[in-house]
Amino acid sequence: MTVTQLEKRILWISLAFALVLLGLAALAINLFHVGLPTCLSDIKPFQKGELITHSPTHFEVHYVARMWKFEPEDVTVPAGSTVDIYLSAADVTHGLILLGTNLNLMAVPGVVNYARITFDKPRVYQLLCHEFCGTGHDRMAAELHVVDRTTFSARPSRPPAPEENHPGYKVLDANLCLACHSIDGQPGIGPTFKGLYGRTEKLRDGSTVTVNDAFIREKLLHPDARVVAGTFEQEMPKPDLTDEEIEEIIEYIQTLK
Ligand code: CUA
Repeated sequence: MTVTQLEKRILWISLAFALVLLGLAALAINLFHVGLPTCLSDIKPFQKGELITHSPTHFEVHYVARMWKFEPEDVTVPAGSTVDIYLSAADVTHGLILLGTNLNLMAVPGVVNYARITFDKPRVYQLLCHEFCGTGHDRMAAELHVVDRTTFSARPSRPPAPEENHPGYKVLDANLCLACHSIDGQPGIGPTFKGLYGRTEKLRDGSTVTVNDAFIREKLLHPDARVVAGTFEQEMPKPDLTDEEIEEIIEYIQTLK
């Protein structure tokens, strides 16, 4: 087989192009801190969002995407730190984009995706979901704060919000009730739990009902017995709860004034 002059030239040009491409990739990784997104098939998907401190300049965030929020919702790291981001989904496919950076990952149930990013300067970054994931998609956001080192060390360590310690909150969260009902007044598929207790609601049949222990219990046991007017056609699914869990939910809803 003979290789013609032209073929030789084409081979050399291709080789040169491949080298330039590799060089540019190396430059992007080193100079602009562009982490190559990776799918880690050997890491078990996690259900709990958390920030892990490895060293004063190395952090790890486990983000869980679920309808319709990211956990943790608020992360603070000091400027100059390297952050390993691991992303998992609890229900359906979501996306994560960190505005102002090259970070863009998919959150797929059963899979953990990973990227590394270095933050040089203090700044507030917005995290958004970029994959349509249901009615709450457009408000699925979180924040990542990069602060200077002094502010970071002076920051009081924040205990978890009191409502998240309530057993009723944990029952609602575990049964995915909070996917449709917010606890802070945000509209959702179902009514918000904030200020719900004691309120008078109009029912589809024209009568009214006061939201009290008995009505909440009825809603949890027989969701379609009495339906509040103006709610979605599709009725609430019946959660599988023990009597004790129902009591905890009622107690918790009473606290959401
Ligand atoms: Cu999650 Cu869109």
